[in-house]
Amino acid sequence: MASYVLPVLLLLCVAASASASPGLSPRFYARSCPGALDTIRIAVEEAVRNEPRMGASLLRLHFHDCFVQGCDASVLLNDTATFTGEQSAAPNVASIRGFAVIDNIKARVEAICRQTVSCADILALAARDSVVALGGPSWTVPLGRRDSTTASLSLANSDLPAPSFDVANLTAAFAAKNLSVTDMVALSGGHTIGDSQCLNFRDRIYNETNNIDAAFATSLKSICPRSTSSGNSSLAPLDVATPTAFDNKYYGNLLAKKGLLHSDQVLVNARGGVGGLVRRYAGSPARFGKDFGAAMVRMGNVSPLTGSQGQIRLICSRVN
Ligand code: HEM
Ligand SMILES: *[C@@H]1O[C@H](CO)[C@@H](O)[C@H](O)[C@H]1NC(C)=O
Ligand SMILES: *[C@@H]1O[C@H](CO)[C@@H](O)[C@H](O)[C@H]1NC(C)=O
Ligand SMILES: *[C@@H]1O[C@H](CO)[C@@H](O)[C@H](O)[C@H]1NC(C)=O
Ligand SMILES: *[C@@H]1O[C@H](CO)[C@@H](O)[C@H](O)[C@H]1NC(C)=O
Ligand SMILES: *[C@@H]1O[C@H](CO)[C@@H](O)[C@H](O)[C@H]1NC(C)=O
Repeated sequence: MASYVLPVLLLLCVAASASASPGLSPRFYARSCPGALDTIRIAVEEAVRNEPRMGASLLRLHFHDCFVQGCDASVLLNDTATFTGEQSAAPNVASIRGFAVIDNIKARVEAICRQTVSCADILALAARDSVVALGGPSWTVPLGRRDSTTASLSLANSDLPAPSFDVANLTAAFAAKNLSVTDMVALSGGHTIGDSQCLNFRDRIYNETNNIDAAFATSLKSICPRSTSSGNSSLAPLDVATPTAFDNKYYGNLLAKKGLLHSDQVLVNARGGVGGLVRRYAGSPARFGKDFGAAMVRMGNVSPLTGSQGQIRLICSRVN
């Protein structure tokens, strides 16, 4: 009995440090820019109405921001003559999108409150508003992040998880951000919306004969040829059941061996509680929604700049 006490205490400490809001507050702009949240929400609703996939792209932008130097809008910085940003990193290049929508939102927010609302907070709010616009859960977003004056190509390459990862690699990538296995499985549910390119699931559909539904693999082969000489950028939905609805069908797909990415499908067969979480979320939209929102808050808390750190950018794609 006693031997269990220490690990349990350690786990509680990790959970507490990950969930404590590092100087952020949901009411941060209540006085300085009371119109900010409505302005952002309306712009996101317009963008998602115009193209449902944009909701997925905006959610992913916040994830790719937070995992690289923390949630500081570093992902938004364009390359310049003297500076190479994160957009050309392997997980981002020819893949991550939504920059024009963020620039548009920032311009609308600047028009009502000059240099007050950070690009990092816009990313966090746009992620939440995108999920809600596609029918998913809502959560309260802690605010007060500031924007970086730097970005890191090398950290984008090293810290973002790859679709080839197994559970141990995924767990390590999330643990490096103080995010738990529960957070990892819940956040992977972000793949209930959006698309992946063929180059990210080719090995899975041609090489993983045991752990993939045969008809599902066959249907994907028609858009994703085995040869790497063409078809790399052909798109397939990450959630074959309901591609543009933010629901829990992603987990049902995994139970049916219809996860699109290797890193999705491995969650179901893993020991040590991970597979149990997949079954839990497949069985209950409410549990998934609650855990997803809580995990998004924890991901949004990863090493923000606060106080007088960094800056409030005027244009999200460049430093002031
Ligand atoms: C668990 C580790 C993860 C891996 C290995 C991973 C990998 C990927 C890959 C390879 C793609 C397709 C990119 C392309 O083909 O262009 C993708 C798309 C996407 N990811 Fe993840 N991802 C992970 C976690 C997450 C998390 C935590 C979120 C958000 C909470 C997320 C949200 C998305 C969304 C929404 C898309 C679709 C984007 C679009 O259609 O524009 N992913 N991810
Ligand atoms: C995944 O983790 C294993 C150890 O569990 C390690 O040997 C391997 O290099 C890792 N793979 C990647 C792609 O990081
Ligand atoms: C994770 O938590 C440890 C201990 O509290 C802290 O030193 C570290 O900076 C945290 N890392 C991140 C990415 O939040
Ligand atoms: C599948 O595995 C084989 C042998 O390990 C490898 O040569 C090939 O590149 C892999 N991918 C595809 C799409 O066949
Ligand atoms: C397609 O992607 C593979 C990596 O998966 C790469 O080796 C190959 O060169 C790419 N092909 C083209 C035509 O870009
Ligand atoms: C950043 O790059 C995008 C895409 O090329 C472009 O539309 C935008 O104007 C650039 N931002 C700046 C400040 O140059």
